[in-house]
Amino acid sequence: MNEFLKVAAATAREAGAILRQEFDRPKKISYKGEVDIVTESDKRSEEIIVARIREHFPGHAVIAEEGGGAAAAGAKYCWHVDPLDGTTNFAHGYPCFAVSIGLSEDGEPVAGVVFNPVSGEFFSAARGEGAYLNGQRIHVSSIQKLATSLVATGFPTHQRKRSANMNYYWEFTLRSHGVRRDGSAALDLCSVACGRFDAYWEFRLNSWDTAAGALLVREAGGVVTAIDGGPYHLGGPSLLASNGLIHDEMKEVSQIAERAGQV
Ligand code: IPD
Ligand code: CA
Ligand code: CA
Repeated sequence: MNEFLKVAAATAREAGAILRQEFDRPKKISYKGEVDIVTESDKRSEEIIVARIREHFPGHAVIAEEGGGAAAAGAKYCWHVDPLDGTTNFAHGYPCFAVSIGLSEDGEPVAGVVFNPVSGEFFSAARGEGAYLNGQRIHVSSIQKLATSLVATGFPTHQRKRSANMNYYWEFTLRSHGVRRDGSAALDLCSVACGRFDAYWEFRLNSWDTAAGALLVREAGGVVTAIDGGPYHLGGPSLLASNGLIHDEMKEVSQIAERAGQV
C-alpha cells in the first residue's frame, strides 16, 4: 500500500472509531442551514483527521467540511475530508454513514478511503492500483441496461426548492428497477464501485463528498463524468457515476429530465 493510502487508512479507522462510539450516545445537534445538521461528532472526527494529515504531510493542503482545513499555497497535493458523510442518517440512528478521505494531485484523485464504522466496510483505492473492499478487489456491475438497473441519487440540504433533481428522480424511477436515496454520497459511490448500484448521480456535491468515492468507481472499472458526459472536476456542479455500460442511457434520460424541468 502506498504511503498516502496507509496514512489515510489508519486515520479513517481512528476517526471511524470515534463515530462508532458516539453513534450509541445521545447526539448534540446544531444547524448550519434549515436541514443541514452538524454534530459534535463531525467536529471531533475532523479534528483527528486534520491533525494526522498535518503531522504526516505538513506541505499538503487540506479542505475539510467543517472548516478545519489548512490552505497551502501552490500545493500539488490536497486532501478532501468529509469527517462524517451521512450526518442526517447518523443523527437519526440510521447506520449509513462514513468517514471519507481523498487525496488529489494537481486536482485529480489519486488515493481515497471510505469507512463505515458500523458495518465495518472499508473501501480503498489508489490510482492505477485498483479498488478494494476490506482488502478484496472490487469491480463495478456488468448490468447492460438501465431497465434492469438499481440506481441512486441524493438531494442537497441547501436551497432545496431550487433542486431540479425531483424530475430526474421521477424519470429514472420509471425506467429502472428503482432509485435509492441512502443519504451518503461517499457510500453511494462505493456502492457503484462494488456493483450494488449500477449508477449514481447528484448535483452540487463538494470535493470532500466525492474525492475518495470517484476514485473508487474509476479504479473498479466504472466511469465518472458530469451529468452531460463532460469531464467531472472535484466540486463540479454535477456528477454521474456508473458501471460504464449504462452511462449513455443515463445521459439520455438526464436530458429528458432536464427538458421536463423546463416545461
Ligand atoms: C450529504 C450526503 C448526502 C448528499 C448531500 C451531502 P453530509 O453529506 O452525502 O447523501 O445527498 O448532498 O451534503 O452533509 O451528510 O456530509
Ligand atoms: Ca458529505
Ligand atoms: Ca459531512
